[in-house]
Amino acid sequence: MAIKRIAVLTSGGDSPGMNAAVRAIVRFGIKSGLEVYGIFRGYAGLLDEDIHKLEFRDVSGIMEKGGTFLRTARCPEFKVADVRDEAAQILKKHEIEAVVVIGGDGSLHGAAFLDADHGIPTIGIPGSIDNDIYGTDMCIGVDTCLNTTMDAVQKLKDTATSHERAFIVEVMGRENGYIALMSAIITGSEAAIIPEVPVDYDKLSDRLLEERKRGKINSIIIVAEGAASAYTVSRHLEHKIGYETRITILGHVQRGGSPSAFDRILSTRMGLHAVQAILDGDFGKMIGLQANSMARVPYEEILGRKKPINMDLYKLSYILS
Ligand code: ADP
Ligand code: F6P
Repeated sequence: MAIKRIAVLTSGGDSPGMNAAVRAIVRFGIKSGLEVYGIFRGYAGLLDEDIHKLEFRDVSGIMEKGGTFLRTARCPEFKVADVRDEAAQILKKHEIEAVVVIGGDGSLHGAAFLDADHGIPTIGIPGSIDNDIYGTDMCIGVDTCLNTTMDAVQKLKDTATSHERAFIVEVMGRENGYIALMSAIITGSEAAIIPEVPVDYDKLSDRLLEERKRGKINSIIIVAEGAASAYTVSRHLEHKIGYETRITILGHVQRGGSPSAFDRILSTRMGLHAVQAILDGDFGKMIGLQANSMARVPYEEILGRKKPINMDLYKLSYILS
């Protein structure tokens, strides 16, 4: 029997572009004859029955906004099967037949359990600035985050040059070094310190000193929060290199802001494909970007798999700086 009523929620850490995905789901869903409901505040809102019908115009003007207008939440109790059973009963009570979950690795685990164990068909969309989800080349929000980081580091470089200082810039990435590595490459920074590769502070300080001798007057080191804190890096380097260091922790500024053109396009494509998968009755999958095409990747192929860092790019970042 064809599905008539679907819902969408955003969960976990927000990422710029989530709104564009919701807009595409609501509008393409309605145009395809579906009723579309928004579940506010992720799985927590689902358990609270914070569920509202969305019309075409309810998603006007949201694409250009950062954050998620559906709000988001962490809901640790959703890891408990009985709690997910309760959520499934709520969805059935509201006659919601399929759910699109937009979020990171944790949120997609929740979606996979709902689908496999609780009789609620789901489709996942990867939204995470960390770009740590297997099965997609890019997640929603990564490009905007990197543009924000690039802009900030560029500004730090100005003042680093004037004062001939070293800056240690801490970026997000609790589990992986994608943001740190890419930020180092796009700003020509001296080093990316990432959780995937152990750091040798002696070697790094020798290199910084060597570069000073060759005439370089600023140094930028980007560190992923999951590798070390900027304060630790500074303590290790300052007494070895003998010139002033300053610390900047970019923090949650990386998660905000109006989504870039790339993120708006990616989110819109993923939203459209999520609805198409529902119309095709093709569930239990995440919509991924693979070689510039949309792919439907079964949850079991992605969850629990660590997306490796590109070591060629890591080596390149050292060669180029
Ligand atoms: P993200 O989705 O950004 O990775 P989290 O890891 O915090 O963020 O997960 C977001 C939410 O997804 C959690 O608060 C919880 O509600 C749900 N979740 C996370 N892991 C699981 C899991 N193993 N099983 C079921 N639900 C989960
Ligand atoms: O969205 C992913 C992420 O930005 C991680 O890199 C970071 O460590 C984490 O979220 C922080 O999330 P919060 O402060 O919302 O718990």
